Amino acid sequence: MAPQVVPPTSDFDWSKLAFDLYPTAGYVKYVNKDGQWGAAEWVEEPYVKLHVGSVALNYGASCFEGLKAFRHEDGQVKLFRPQENAARMNYSAAAISMPEVPEEMFLEACHKAVAKNLHLVPPHAPHGSAGSMYLRPLYFASGAQLALVAPSEFTFIVYVTQTGSLYGSAGGKAPAVDAFVIEDFDRAAPQGTGTYKLAGNYGPVLRHMAQAKKNGYPITLHLDSKTRTFVDEFSTSNFAAFKKASSPDSTPTLVVPKSESILRSVTTKSLMDIAKSFGWNIEHRPLKFQEVVDGTLEEVFACGTAAAITPVRSITYTAPGGALQKVSLGDGQNAGPNTLKLLAELTGIQAGNREDKFGWTWPAEGVDASKA
Ligand code: COI
Repeated sequence: MAPQVVPPTSDFDWSKLAFDLYPTAGYVKYVNKDGQWGAAEWVEEPYVKLHVGSVALNYGASCFEGLKAFRHEDGQVKLFRPQENAARMNYSAAAISMPEVPEEMFLEACHKAVAKNLHLVPPHAPHGSAGSMYLRPLYFASGAQLALVAPSEFTFIVYVTQTGSLYGSAGGKAPAVDAFVIEDFDRAAPQGTGTYKLAGNYGPVLRHMAQAKKNGYPITLHLDSKTRTFVDEFSTSNFAAFKKASSPDSTPTLVVPKSESILRSVTTKSLMDIAKSFGWNIEHRPLKFQEVVDGTLEEVFACGTAAAITPVRSITYTAPGGALQKVSLGDGQNAGPNTLKLLAELTGIQAGNREDKFGWTWPAEGVDASKA
């Protein structure tokens, strides 16, 4: 039997939903001590008590995930591909010497965090302006160590918040943004940690993003740090594009950069599967920035859990000699037709408006508050 529906609360103004943190009923926490996971604890405040000597605080041993839950038309709530996030979190955890989080525990934590906050899952789109519940699994070395060695205590948390899109509405007409290539800072070293979702990959980019935003660029792009000629990813999300069509009825080609320094985005992976299901061509390969400059590509977009699909209408970079050059993409204003088709299919599957042929939404019957 389908779980009982818990409707969105009327105490929240859903029309003002932003990408922000809002008060919730609490979060779920598990502690691993000496190799053993303890039971789930429910915490009714947005704080965590941490030893001042914890390896997370002192040496940055901390990773995180981002995934979303969506309300379907019948009121049920389902998560998008949480198993993928469980796998990626363990990929990150291994890079910072932390033990594996069992997939079953990861899923239990996600289910519990959403189930206890079901009233905060936004209304079904379009009424919810494509709002969703954002889940943030956090995993860090909570044990204390002065020496530079892994501790014997680790903490895994899943907290949630209702959220809108990172760059504005991700509805049918996605607003396009202007991008800026960061040239004076490298997000990831060759053979470094760029592919892992480590907290430390994000903190150092804040000041560069803030400066770019002040100059009118809401999104920032990183090239490979070894040669500065290949596209890596945006500071917040992956990069993807369509090749300029040779004729109006030619099969679209989705181009996704391949690099050992970029995050393995669940959204990008899903979009590649969707594009394949449309019969489109996929090129997953090292992508020269020159292909952006010389017009080989026409529809460029950022993709990720928070960004969803955010079309990019221009990219500004520093040309040899130091002058800023702006490349206009597509019509320089709106998302292109291929991007909109991908967006409609992705968000349609997530919100239950389109058939979930891939079996991506979970759990099948919906999140059950009685099992929280
Ligand atoms: C996400 O897309 O879930 C992220 O983690 C992006 C965040 C850095 C804003």
